[in-house]
Amino acid sequence: MGNTDHKAVISAALEKHASTNGALLPILHEIQDVLGYIPTDAIDVIGKSINRSRAEVHGVVSFYHHFRTQKPGRHIIQVCRSEACQAVGSEKIIDKLKLSLGIDFHESTLDGQITLEPIYCLGHCACAPALMVNGEPRAKMTSDQVESLLNELRATNHDD
Ligand code: FES
Repeated sequence: MGNTDHKAVISAALEKHASTNGALLPILHEIQDVLGYIPTDAIDVIGKSINRSRAEVHGVVSFYHHFRTQKPGRHIIQVCRSEACQAVGSEKIIDKLKLSLGIDFHESTLDGQITLEPIYCLGHCACAPALMVNGEPRAKMTSDQVESLLNELRATNHDD
């Protein structure tokens, strides 16, 4: 999506929510739902539209793990780091993902294909360890399944 398009997305989100109370979170959600992230230049524009300082808007964006400020890869893998998942081996899966992808959390592979993010309890604790892949939950993941998951993603064009 080009720069002009992302400005249109920001304007549409502001038009829809700016006049309501507590507009900031709905505006941020709307922008991220469409663009996949909150562009840096959106922060000033949002602040001016709802009479909040740049620092306030930036503070909210950085407080919530959900919001990202970098364009994500074509595929997003989010690994649960909460207690029930940690108790049954999520850290092993995380280590394997980081090693195989050559990236850390909040980074994308050089080819722009895959972004790795932490997430905190998906509500699937009974099926831990749990992941979210492109918004779809994956349950009872094992570190042995990591390579086949990555092969599956590499073979799939997410735009299809
Ligand atoms: S702790 Fe991981 S899904 Fe709840």
